[in-house]
Amino acid sequence: MEDQRKSVLSCMQPTGLMHLGNYFGAVLNWVELQKDYRCFFGVVDYHAMTMPYNIQKLRNNSWDMITDVVAVGVKPENLFIQSLIPEHAELGWIFNCFCSYGHLTRMTQFKDKSKNNEASSKEGFISAGLLDYPVLQAADILIYRANYVPVGKDQDQHLELTRSIAQRFNNTVGKEYFVLPETLHTETPKIKSTADPSRKMSKSAGEKHFIGVFSDEARIRKQIRSAVTDTGDTKPGEMSEGVENLFQLIKASGYKQNEYEQLQKDYSNGELKYSDLKDVVADAIVEMTNVFKERKKELLEDKRELKYKIKQSSEEIRKVAQETVKEVKDLVGLMNIKF
Ligand code: TRP
Repeated sequence: MEDQRKSVLSCMQPTGLMHLGNYFGAVLNWVELQKDYRCFFGVVDYHAMTMPYNIQKLRNNSWDMITDVVAVGVKPENLFIQSLIPEHAELGWIFNCFCSYGHLTRMTQFKDKSKNNEASSKEGFISAGLLDYPVLQAADILIYRANYVPVGKDQDQHLELTRSIAQRFNNTVGKEYFVLPETLHTETPKIKSTADPSRKMSKSAGEKHFIGVFSDEARIRKQIRSAVTDTGDTKPGEMSEGVENLFQLIKASGYKQNEYEQLQKDYSNGELKYSDLKDVVADAIVEMTNVFKERKKELLEDKRELKYKIKQSSEEIRKVAQETVKEVKDLVGLMNIKF
């Protein structure tokens, strides 16, 4: 029977190990969405080549990310690795011809990344792939006729560009072939760095600015114990960003919820001890991550099994992509002979 559910697609660049910011901000949402939608979740390694990168690490990073997201509950059958489905790149090429150069140069992500890149890399090498990045993203989305794309606000511009490509394509071929995908803005907790709660948790800021989901317990506890609570610039009667972040971590974890209520009361009464708050945060995060670590351990005991599953799922998902590319080639006047 045909799958009648609406479809969701989202992707992530393979950037190495997952931290609490990625988990609560995005991956947990993927896990939840699997209950109601036909889901396509990709590890986009073609995208990871757009900035200077380490060839030795790329392939491992992709498998690490696959392992991590499966360990926290994403189903292998919903996962694919982008470069196992070369039709993404083929559709990307075709879409290049339905997207104006000017539109790409106006993208803020391109402007930001090409600026940072110029400063950080010696040769100031900016690849054409970086400019073209959003066209490949449009191909990722439209190739599966996704209805919804769960992403952060920073991706709104890319979604607009995707819709504009779809529209131009539809107008050109004289047929409403592509559905226009919508962004799905789910309220997800934006976790801050515990070392500097004025910035978001991220790997690029350095070691102490993120807590790895699979870090060992001692390290997690240590990082939480040394979390910054009062930053000095909080107005009277307002909760500081650091304390708010700690409360948010307990809430998001789903563990120690009774303790959470009690700590909130203590805070309102002016009786909150930060050391108590931190103990509960640490217990909640450790309890949550222990479950994930256990699953990851099992997955790593049989790496071949997981690789096999992802190869299979990518092959299944590829069939959808191939069908779209076949129809697209027909519509735009390219050769479509089956050898
Ligand atoms: N650009 C996205 C990011 O930086 C990653 C991405 C690539 C993506 N292709 C996608 C996200 C398709 C959603 C849909 O996070």
